Amino acid sequence: MAQRWLASVPARDGGQRVVDTSVAHISRVYDYWLGGKDNFAADRVAGDRVIAAYPDIVRSARANRAFLARAVRYLVREAGVRQFLDIGTGIPAANNTHEVAQSAAPECCVVYVDNDPVVLSHAQALLASGPDGATAYVDADLRDPGTILAEAGGLLDFSRPVAIMLVAILQHIGNKADPFGIVGRLMGAVPAGSYLALSHPARDIQAKAMAEIAESMNELVAEKVTFRSRAEVLRFFDGLELVKPGVVPVPRWRPISDTEAASPTVLWGGLGRKG
Ligand SMILES: C[S@@+](CC[C@H](N)C(=O)[O-])C[C@H]1O[C@@H](n2cnc3c(N)ncnc32)[C@H](O)[C@@H]1O
Repeated sequence: MAQRWLASVPARDGGQRVVDTSVAHISRVYDYWLGGKDNFAADRVAGDRVIAAYPDIVRSARANRAFLARAVRYLVREAGVRQFLDIGTGIPAANNTHEVAQSAAPECCVVYVDNDPVVLSHAQALLASGPDGATAYVDADLRDPGTILAEAGGLLDFSRPVAIMLVAILQHIGNKADPFGIVGRLMGAVPAGSYLALSHPARDIQAKAMAEIAESMNELVAEKVTFRSRAEVLRFFDGLELVKPGVVPVPRWRPISDTEAASPTVLWGGLGRKG
């Protein structure tokens, strides 16, 4: 018989959050694709269903992580950003935001946000900051940007530039929950010189496979998905100056080699600057 729950982890209110292993969750499905160990049978069944529809999903997930690292390096080295609000952190993997940022500038501060109890249970690993910088973890939902901003304000100084990172998370915010309004609210809270770093699964790359993937994920994974076209993803950057090369397939965003640029992908990605 399938194990119903694994453990409980401390919650914001001082209570406990139960981890249900019988239903797939995106943090653990993504961990499976990335070759991690924090996934269960239900996550692997959902992950394998997606692999059957699009066998390159594993390379696409890795290309998304590589995009995240290149965007953070750009933000630290080229844009001079030292503060990051990384919403939809995921289970720690290679090159977490604070590791990449602090290897370029040790004083960088990162606030991680996720609503998944398994990610919360890994908060200690994410909090292992270098001595010159700092990290914090906020257990919150992207649909509640007020709480995120209030809690992130414990570490981040919102009078100085902040990079808001929404990497492969907005597909879990359906149109009824007003994803464009949420991004507008977050960007409205940060000063000029701040950035939005975003990637998003496409419905206009590998369209047939992506329609199949959406159907499987909406059947098997707790967090429902809405994939978006490039035109829809561009809307998230309204009012921001797009950093070249704009919104492109993630491996084509400032790749460091031709091999990296050629990776298969089903995600759009880009970086925008608040003027
Ligand atoms: C596909 S993973 C992406 C992880 C990481 N950003 C990356 O790109 O490598 C999506 C993450 O977003 C989190 N997530 C999904 N919906 C969320 C929500 N409404 N609020 C907060 N986190 C959410 C999931 O728990 C998961 O950890």
